[in-house]
Amino acid sequence: MLEKIKNILSQANEELEKVSDLAGLDNIRVSYLGKKGHLTLILRTLGSLSPEERPVVGDSINKAKAELEEKISLKKETLEKTTSKSSTKLLDLTLPGRTPFKGAYHPITQILNEICDIFTSLGFTVSQGPEIELDFYNFEALNIPAEHPARDMQDTFYVSDNVVLRTHTSPIQIRTMQKRKPPLKIIAPGKVYRCDSDITHTPMFHQIEGLHVDKDLSFSHLKGLLIQFLQKFFSADTKVRFRPSFFPFTEPSAEVDIGCMMCGGSGCRVCKGTGWIEVLGAGMVHPQVFRNVGYDPAEFTGYAFGLGIERFTMLRYGINDIRLYYENDIRFLEQFK
Ligand code: PHE
Repeated sequence: MLEKIKNILSQANEELEKVSDLAGLDNIRVSYLGKKGHLTLILRTLGSLSPEERPVVGDSINKAKAELEEKISLKKETLEKTTSKSSTKLLDLTLPGRTPFKGAYHPITQILNEICDIFTSLGFTVSQGPEIELDFYNFEALNIPAEHPARDMQDTFYVSDNVVLRTHTSPIQIRTMQKRKPPLKIIAPGKVYRCDSDITHTPMFHQIEGLHVDKDLSFSHLKGLLIQFLQKFFSADTKVRFRPSFFPFTEPSAEVDIGCMMCGGSGCRVCKGTGWIEVLGAGMVHPQVFRNVGYDPAEFTGYAFGLGIERFTMLRYGINDIRLYYENDIRFLEQFK
């Protein structure tokens, strides 16, 4: 029995030599001195010994326990010292900090915010409307007749016979006018959908609509506003021209071009040799549109305009393929931090 105690003790000493952390040390303590530890268990066998043997073995167990406890607490002290020392060594205050991961807005969102900021600084407030829209708001109330090509299945995503994914942000004009009385001065950014996909078209893209209704607004107000906006967004010397055009919901209607910033107007691939790039659709609100929402066209006039955000972003950054925006390639997106 005494031999056994000796063996246990030397086994424990060996383990103590090797242990290098506090958790390991505690494991040793439990495996020898704990409730089911080697020395505790041996103490329980005392009853089976002869009365002469009992005190000798008991004494030896107690001594062994005391010795081990002492060694463990000594070891604990040294371990505590070395670990705290090494952790101060690890704390090098001169090391550069870790750079936190930083995300950024998508370039489309950045340009959308920038354009909205310009218009809100000019007194416009931001409105919104649903992307899944009734035929009435997307077409009918905007004076787009049933036989108009824009209604063609080729362009419009139909959800059902009279529900579509909006093909432009213009339905927000109608929804806003139905809810409010003039004067009103709103811009309405949002996603729009057309069944189209190539280097300059994606099935989903973003527009910003503008609408200003008041008494005595004329085409010159529209012209002045858009020139101011375009020169603020691109550059103060940007050339702007208005070309007669057609939209069912405006009369007169215009398309707005800016002088090509790639070639300075001499003609290149981007402006297809014309020196001009189309950036906006606009016009005076059609009297029929006013009647459709219960406004009196004899009392009120207004102008409206619409622009594509992908287009503005392409022109700002010289991006030549619209599909890049939606591939989520991190190498592309990281350039807009
Ligand atoms: N909704 C037109 C389009 O998507 C743009 C536009 C808006 C034109 C407002 C005139 C007035 O092409």
